[in-house]
Amino acid sequence: NTRVLTGITTTGTPHLGNYVGAIRPAVRSAEDPTVDAFFFLADYHALIKCEDPARIARSRLEIAATWLAAGLDPEHTHFYRQSDIPEIPELSWMLTCVTGKGLMNRAHAYKAAVDANRDKGEEEDDGVTMGLFSYPILMAADILMFNAHKVPVGRDQVQHLEMARDIAARFNHLYGEGRPWFVLPEAVVDDEVATLTGLDGRKMSKSYNNTIPLFEGGAKAIKGAVARIVTDSLEPGQPKDPFTSNLLPIYQAFATPSQTQDYIKALQDGLGWGEAKTQLIQVIESQIAPMRDQYEMLMAKPDDIEDILLAGANKARAIATPFMEQLRAAVGLGKGA
Ligand code: TYM
Repeated sequence: NTRVLTGITTTGTPHLGNYVGAIRPAVRSAEDPTVDAFFFLADYHALIKCEDPARIARSRLEIAATWLAAGLDPEHTHFYRQSDIPEIPELSWMLTCVTGKGLMNRAHAYKAAVDANRDKGEEEDDGVTMGLFSYPILMAADILMFNAHKVPVGRDQVQHLEMARDIAARFNHLYGEGRPWFVLPEAVVDDEVATLTGLDGRKMSKSYNNTIPLFEGGAKAIKGAVARIVTDSLEPGQPKDPFTSNLLPIYQAFATPSQTQDYIKALQDGLGWGEAKTQLIQVIESQIAPMRDQYEMLMAKPDDIEDILLAGANKARAIATPFMEQLRAAVGLGKGA
């Protein structure tokens, strides 16, 4: 069976970018009976970006409820919280010991932090923790722990997948002796929505404050966010350029190809931005609204979510624990060796 795995960092409220980039393709892929699915809440990763315990706890609940409302079936998948699997940080350390510092120097998130410091005339590594620096190694451990073949992600994660492959190959080379321990994982990026843009046309991201929330705040929050999408000042009746508008990429992520064609044509024919936004809300709602009740029901029962996560962790550890024992032996730490 093909193993599909993906995770979401528990630092914020899930937005449409998370949904179209990771959750929707992941849940769809799990419908294939030849797929073994692993979906998890990356809460150790959350510690890197967020020092607010209440925010992390709240986000964990929101993201878990989002996965379940979006159709994840915990009976037929492995659905767990990263911090319930102690083998993951253990593997992360083993991988840290075989990963070149030079590889980590090239990571986009780290480089962006260094560049920002340089622009401000500050010390290069100001505010850069070792957690941020080794972020891709922990992510490699998430993936390699379960020997995932495919990892559905948005484009921003592709470099991390390349690094996971490098790290896996290095470990296989050092300790494999003809038995490759790790599968080399592949990123699965949906070309249509590789990077969903936000209200201002940049990548939709919590750090840009340009997101449209998926479930939190209900239909009202979606409406409010869409109202804030930046447009030019052309009046109704004047032809618009759909391809430079911030509405089309979001519309396209939720519409059928023929709906999208109609939308393009209507904008070219002078559809007003107000009406264009109303149609955008409709097409988002047609997909999101049917899942919203389920989300709200789940959010009202945090104990049920906790039970589901603990059962999922047990299932995942049934794989991780024996594998970790083999890996310990492979590197010379096996107690019985
Ligand atoms: P995170 O939490 O930032 O985002 C979760 C997923 O959502 C995708 N995404 C987007 N896709 C399209 N357009 C957007 N605007 C957009 N914004 C976010 C991300 O690409 C991602 O797939 N490091 C990961 C979490 C992680 C992980 C892993 C993923 C930890 N371990 C192992 C896969 C496998 C992250 O921070 O994603």
